[in-house]
Amino acid sequence: MQCKQMNIDTLVIGAGAAGMMCAAHAGGRVLLLDHARSPGEKIRISGGGRCNFTNMYCCPEAFLSENPHFAKSALAKFSQWDFIDLIDRHAISWHEKTLGQLFCNISAKDIINMLRKLMQKAEVELRLQTSVSEIIKNSSGFIVTIQNDGKMTKIQAQNVVIATGGKSIPKMGATGYAYEVARTFGHRVTETKPALVPLTFADARFAKISGVSCLTQITVNNTCFKEAMLFTHRGLSGPAVLQASNYWEPGTPITIHLLPDKNFNAILRQKRTKEGKRSLANELAKYLPDRLVDYLGNLIDLSGRLGDLSDNRINLICENLAKWQLIPGGTEGYRTAEVTHGGIATDELSSKTMMSTKVKGLYFIGEAVDVTGWLGGYNFQWAWSSAKAAASDLQR
Ligand code: FDA
Repeated sequence: MQCKQMNIDTLVIGAGAAGMMCAAHAGGRVLLLDHARSPGEKIRISGGGRCNFTNMYCCPEAFLSENPHFAKSALAKFSQWDFIDLIDRHAISWHEKTLGQLFCNISAKDIINMLRKLMQKAEVELRLQTSVSEIIKNSSGFIVTIQNDGKMTKIQAQNVVIATGGKSIPKMGATGYAYEVARTFGHRVTETKPALVPLTFADARFAKISGVSCLTQITVNNTCFKEAMLFTHRGLSGPAVLQASNYWEPGTPITIHLLPDKNFNAILRQKRTKEGKRSLANELAKYLPDRLVDYLGNLIDLSGRLGDLSDNRINLICENLAKWQLIPGGTEGYRTAEVTHGGIATDELSSKTMMSTKVKGLYFIGEAVDVTGWLGGYNFQWAWSSAKAAASDLQR
C-alpha cells in the first residue's frame, strides 16, 4: 500500500464538540480527523435540534469525577460567559429555556457552522471517514498512521489530542477509542457506565401510564433534582430521572416526591371542612394527571371523601406521595445514554492543560475524561472548556 508522509504541529482525533473547539484554537498546522461522515453529529441532534450549548449556572459542583476539583481550572479559564461571548460574536441568537439552560433560537447547526468557520479561518485541515491504525511516541512527538479510502498516511505530529468522546450512542460512532489509547500509554481508566439515561424495570409496570409526565423531586444517594419525570413502557425517563441516573447504582432505591411544590397535607386539612363531599381522588387529580391518579389508586388507598379523612390518614397519604420508593432494575444502557460516566482518570492529567503527566504532548479532552456533567448544557461546557485548556498549551 502506498504511504504518504505529513508533518504537522497538532493532530486532533475526533471532530465532535471538544475536537472542533480545540482544533479551531490550536494554532499552527492542525489536522482534525474523524471516522464519521460529518463533524459534530452529537451537537446537531442535541437539545431537540437546538443544542443546549451551556448553562448560566455552570459551576464545578455540577460535575461528577473521582476528583471533584479537577474541572475547576478549565471551567474558570473558559467559562459559560466566554462561550456565550463567542456565539454572540457570531450572531447566533439564543434563549434560556429553564434552569439556566441556553439553547440556539434557530438550529444546533449554527454552532457547528461557527466551529467550521473558526477552523477554516485557522486553516485547520479536516479529514472525515478517516481512522487511526497506530500512534507511536518518538523523540519529536508522535508518528500516527491514519487510513482513508484505502490510502495510508504517516503523520509526524508534536501533539496528539484525543477527543473521541465516550461510549454513549454507538450508532452515532461512539467507540470508547479514547480509553484504548489511554491504556496503551499507561493511563488508568475509571469504571465507566451509561449516564443521563432512562431507568428501567424488569416488569412493564408503567406501560399503562406510558407517556404521562409530572413535576417531581427525585432523591438518590442523598442528591435530589426537581424536574419533570416521564413514565415509559420500560420504566422512567424525563429530566429528573436522567439527572438521578448519574448518581444511581444498581440495587439503590430512588425516592420520588410527586407533589414537591404543594403542601398537600395543609390542602387536605383545609378542604376536609370546606369541601367535605369532594372525593380524595378528584382532589389529587387537580395536581397530578388523571391516569397517574388512577395508577396510584392501586398502590395507595385513595378511596372516600375529603370530609371522612382522619389526621392520621392524611399524614399517611402525604407520606406515600412524598416518599414513593422504587428500586430500578437497570438503565437503558449506552444505546440511549446522553453521556458516559467515568473515563480517563484525572490524576494522570494536568487540570490546567489536559496534557498527560506520563506522555508529553498527549492530551485528552471532552467526554473521554472522567468528568461528567448534569443534564442542561453542562457537558458541552466541559467540552468547550477542556478543549480551550488544551489548545492554549499546545507546542507549535
Ligand atoms: P463527541 O462524542 O461529541 O465527539 C467524539 C467524536 O469522535 C465523534 O465525532 C466521533 O465520530 C469521533 N470518534 C469516535 N471514535 C473515533 C475513532 N476511533 N476514530 C475517529 N473518530 C472517532 N450535552 C449538553 O451539554 N447539552 C445537550 O443538549 C446535550 N444533548 C445531547 C443529546 C444526545 C442525544 C446525546 C447523545 C448527548 C447530548 N449531550 C448534550 C452530551 C454531549 O453531546 C456530549 O457531552 C458531547 O458531545 C461530548 O463532546 P466530545 O467532543 O467529547 O465527544
